Amino acid sequence: MPKNNTHEILHAIQERRSAREFLDTPVEMAAVRRIVEAGRLAASGANRQPWHFVVADDPVIKRNLRSICEAAERSYYEKAPEELREWFADHSISPSKPFLERAPVLITVFFDPHAPYAIPSVWIAIANMLLQATQEGLYSLPYTPSSAQLGPVLGVPTKYSVAALLPIGHANRPARQPRHPISQVASRNRFEVPFDEG
Ligand SMILES: Cc1cc2nc3c(=O)[nH]c(=O)nc-3n(C[C@H](O)[C@H](O)[C@H](O)COP(=O)(O)O)c2cc1C
Repeated sequence: MPKNNTHEILHAIQERRSAREFLDTPVEMAAVRRIVEAGRLAASGANRQPWHFVVADDPVIKRNLRSICEAAERSYYEKAPEELREWFADHSISPSKPFLERAPVLITVFFDPHAPYAIPSVWIAIANMLLQATQEGLYSLPYTPSSAQLGPVLGVPTKYSVAALLPIGHANRPARQPRHPISQVASRNRFEVPFDEG
């Protein structure tokens, strides 16, 4: 028997969208704590919970993180094929990442790559956090820097790798990005039988 409010989580999933421009409005640390809690409670391979979340609200630390990420992005862009650089330019994507400094809070999500199923596990934690941010009326973005070394500046042991940085803050509502229809992405029993027509 379905529980009440079966649409509550789906509603948060529909509402969530990535923001890359943030307002100066501060965020409540209690809300940030619930976002971290949503990550902490995630499912993980063999329940190893291979993550560590560093919550940064110190402007100097955020500026350092931004500057390390931008340096890594610049060297990535320089080596990127011409075709890819054109695509970045067409989509207004550049090595500049002001949201890393502008968002009042920046959560750097680390994971231990030697743990079983480490990558899918940490991304389940990130998905939980993105949804809790939506539930708090906040915005975020799973930003995945190109091989930036962020551990040392945050005092994180070398066994950890960075999965993503999550800027957290208030934002003007970004446009919804399109999704494939359910008929294209789901089937009933067999690939060629659309889910909705089974
Ligand atoms: C694994 C993953 C990595 C991503 N990395 C970046 C990134 O490095 N920079 C960025 O601006 N957006 C990044 N995104 C955000 C996607 O571009 C975004 O989720 C997608 O365009 C759909 O938009 P929406 O989140 O608003 O629905 C990433 C998303 C995922 C799931």
